[in-house]
Amino acid sequence: MLSVEDCDDLTVGQVHDLYRRFVNRSQVNLMTSFGFGRELVERAEGAYLHLRDGRRILDFTGGVGVLNHGHNHPRILDVRQRFAERRRMEVHKTYFSPYVAALGHNLAELLPGDLNMSFLPNSGAEAVEGAVKLAYKYHGGRRHTVLHADISFHGKLLGSGTLTGASRGHFAFPGISGAVPFTYGDLDSVRAAVAAHKGDVYAILIEPFSASTVNWCSEEFLRGLRELCTAEDIVLIFDEIYTGWGKTGSLFYFMRYPGLVPDVVTTSKSFGGGKSSISAYVARQPVFRKAYDNATDALLHSTSTTYYGFGEECATAIEAVNIAVEDDYPGRARRIEEQLAPGLKRIAKEHPDEVARVAGAGALWGVSIGGGPRVLDLAAKIAPGGLARDPRFRAKLVTAAVVNALYQDHDIYSYYALNGDNPLIVGPPLIVEPDEVDRFLDALDAVLGQGITKLLTRFAAQKLSSLW
Ligand SMILES: Cc1ncc(COP(=O)(O)O)c(C=O)c1O
Repeated sequence: MLSVEDCDDLTVGQVHDLYRRFVNRSQVNLMTSFGFGRELVERAEGAYLHLRDGRRILDFTGGVGVLNHGHNHPRILDVRQRFAERRRMEVHKTYFSPYVAALGHNLAELLPGDLNMSFLPNSGAEAVEGAVKLAYKYHGGRRHTVLHADISFHGKLLGSGTLTGASRGHFAFPGISGAVPFTYGDLDSVRAAVAAHKGDVYAILIEPFSASTVNWCSEEFLRGLRELCTAEDIVLIFDEIYTGWGKTGSLFYFMRYPGLVPDVVTTSKSFGGGKSSISAYVARQPVFRKAYDNATDALLHSTSTTYYGFGEECATAIEAVNIAVEDDYPGRARRIEEQLAPGLKRIAKEHPDEVARVAGAGALWGVSIGGGPRVLDLAAKIAPGGLARDPRFRAKLVTAAVVNALYQDHDIYSYYALNGDNPLIVGPPLIVEPDEVDRFLDALDAVLGQGITKLLTRFAAQKLSSLW
């Protein structure tokens, strides 16, 4: 058997080989197209990755929402170390957990209105599915329709996958019944769906800010939804799994609008401070009580009877949330926006052939890369391996070439979204300093200055040389 110590000695070639044999062969083929797929990280701290070969990489992925605090935040490490040193109880089960109690209290303190009742599973998809089940139970199983947006991303389990509009057309896994899409941001489309299923809609699920497409709902739309849901007694669920804890410039995106309160909000990602795999739904007290507040149903919903509310996971989340509040993460995101917004817009203006769109809020921006030779569309059609099924092949390839050049030439780690028009995501951790934001902007400017054709040629040449 290999030990943890042995992991430190595995070469990148050996890791690829083990992945090929025991994890996922095609993942290796895909990810070795990028510089970061061919290297290993020695340690990660703050906004930086330190590679085995000594290179220091600026991490601008923000861990795809998980790393608002950066890597290995000292306060988070400290809390976890103290937890271990004191031999605190990890697995509570039928004992009550002071950590679950305190975390529930803090969430209720921070969220508006009577959003007071928390459920704490492990992943975003579990929180979404828990929220949808809560809404179904609230109506006692008498309503059967749940509305979701056409461009939504809510997770990849069977239920959350059904409610993910973006997954349509790729591969149809079986799903939950009664899921009906509406057009994101279009109140008339929601009204029409509610009217078409009069008296049968138990929940409306929406991301107020869609992190995977970098689109967001207007205040008018969100308030209109609230009004409609109140009038029709529909449970309104805001999915803020990505956008919580300051990322877009307010604690949660919807909280920029005073008095706006959904019936349920979901969170995860930076809720765990970059260390703990924890998520939550937080429900309005009357909604939660009507659904589950009796002796028979008290334990009815528990997606995670195994891993629910573990001690160190919750202690970590308590610290992560306290850091976000004490260090004013929303304010930090707003200051990052003051640099990113004008910087990215200037870049878009200087590179009109390469940049199709720039949009975002706080420390979460998308740069949609345009252009690229149209012959790539034809290449995708005749290429093996299922690429023909991907109508976004050209956009993905040109954006991948930009991600690769940022990494190879400027030691900057970034990613692009697999949803919408596949924007390059600019979502740094909230601990990033102004000079690091400037460094990113200069690097992106220089990369785009090379032109898409040159970037693609280099990217393709590297891919080919990695095959031989
Ligand atoms: C808005 C949103 N909802 C749900 C999810 C699913 O979370 P998980 O991947 O933890 O299941 C994600 C993940 O990216 C997300 O961004």
